[in-house]
Amino acid sequence: MATRPDYSLLARQLDATLDTRDWLTNASQTAAFINMTVADLNWAGFYVQRQPQILHLGPFQGQPACHPIPFTKGVCGAAATQRTTQRIADVHAFPGHIACDAASRSELVIPVLIEQNGQQVLWGVLDLDSPSPERFDEEDQAGIERLVEIFIASSDFDSVPA
Ligand code: SME
Repeated sequence: MATRPDYSLLARQLDATLDTRDWLTNASQTAAFINMTVADLNWAGFYVQRQPQILHLGPFQGQPACHPIPFTKGVCGAAATQRTTQRIADVHAFPGHIACDAASRSELVIPVLIEQNGQQVLWGVLDLDSPSPERFDEEDQAGIERLVEIFIASSDFDSVPA
């Protein structure tokens, strides 16, 4: 069982680290920060909606990854379509899971929702993979969701294609 980080400390540290409004820089920093501070991960990064209903690979840490991912496929597509966090205890039991890395056994995918022209739109997702089954519990989910909130609050985003 991985040692649980102090997520309130991580939130303060990430907030201090994101010292620009540039989303690309902040996404790169956030992926590296999570990969460095959250144990037992084999992939941490973003997919970005740069075409309608298509997720394109963004800044990440880990092995080269599958791309692009349509909203109709994978755990990332489910998070993007449903606009809800997907906490998957066993990726082998998830129909349509996309195995970029065969070592991945559990996954946490958090939608990145931003305000655009007075509406909430799906900018992309944060995807975390672990080589351990059942790696993410409710506290991990809430802690990582808080880090995504900090990334969003710290960044100015390009417009999401309609
Ligand atoms: N497993 C994801 C694909 C992205 S790789 O994990 C980086 C999915 O099923 O959508």
